[in-house]
Formats: sequence, C-alpha cells, structure tokens
Amino acid sequence: MDVKKVIDGLNKALSLEYASIIQGLQHSFLVQGLFRESIAPMLREHAEESFKHAKMLGEKIVALGGLPTVEPAPIKQATELTEMLKQDLELAYQVYEHYESLLKLVQDDTPLRVMIENFVLTEKEDCEELEKVLELKKIKVKEKEVKFQVK
Ligand SMILES: [Fe+2]
Ligand SMILES: [Fe+2]
Repeated sequence: MDVKKVIDGLNKALSLEYASIIQGLQHSFLVQGLFRESIAPMLREHAEESFKHAKMLGEKIVALGGLPTVEPAPIKQATELTEMLKQDLELAYQVYEHYESLLKLVQDDTPLRVMIENFVLTEKEDCEELEKVLELKKIKVKEKEVKFQVK
C-alpha cells in the first residue's frame, strides 16, 4: 500500500466530510416553508453522519503517520429548497465517488478497506435518499389495481 497516497486520499475525504458538515448544517438552518419539519432533521442527521466519518478519518490519518487537514472542500449555499437539495446531492456524489476511488488504494489493508467499504455504502444511501427526495427516479405503475387469483 502506498501510505503517502492513502494519507492524501484520506485527507481529501476529510475535507469533503468537513464541507458536508458545514453545508448540511447551514442548509438545515436556512430551510423554510412547509417541508422544513422533515427536511431540517434529515440534513442534520446527514451532518452528524459526516461528523462521525470525519472523526474516523482524522484518527486513521494520524495512525498512519499523517497530519489531518483543517480545510473544508468548497461549500455551496442556497435559500431555495430544491437548489439546496441539488447542491447537497452534488456533494454527496463527490464524496461517494471519492470513496470509490480510495477503495482501490487500500485493498491490502483489511481494516482500512472495511472502513472505506462502509463509507461507500452509507454515502451511496445518502445519494439514493436525496435522489428520491428530489424525485429524480420516475417510477411507472402499469396497472393501478393488482388482482390475485384466489383459489
Ligand atoms: Fe460521510
Ligand atoms: Fe454522507
């Protein structure tokens, strides 16, 4: 395993997680209107998950002999709900894709591989959740009523 490369990759992940914490919290403060009651807790829950990931990344970077970054990745802000959620989805895709690329570098370190695999799983769930909130997948129902044959 190329430790230097892995530390750089973990630090990039840490800066993306910092950005997710700040952006998610900022959006949870700003969200107004009818959907505030459901969206604000979702955004905060996501920010808390990012905080958990950031803690694990920082600890791992030091364990590998590296210095954890203090710089967040670029943060987007908006006051309109759909725009805000699109910004969050865009960041969630970036985080997910970064972990996918990081996974290739850590194959021979089992605990680190497992950690990154878990991140890949939760980030993918975040992406899918936001895609659903934004109604990006249009599901078609062919028949409105499903009839079963009772014997
Ligand atoms: Fe995360
Ligand atoms: Fe996430």
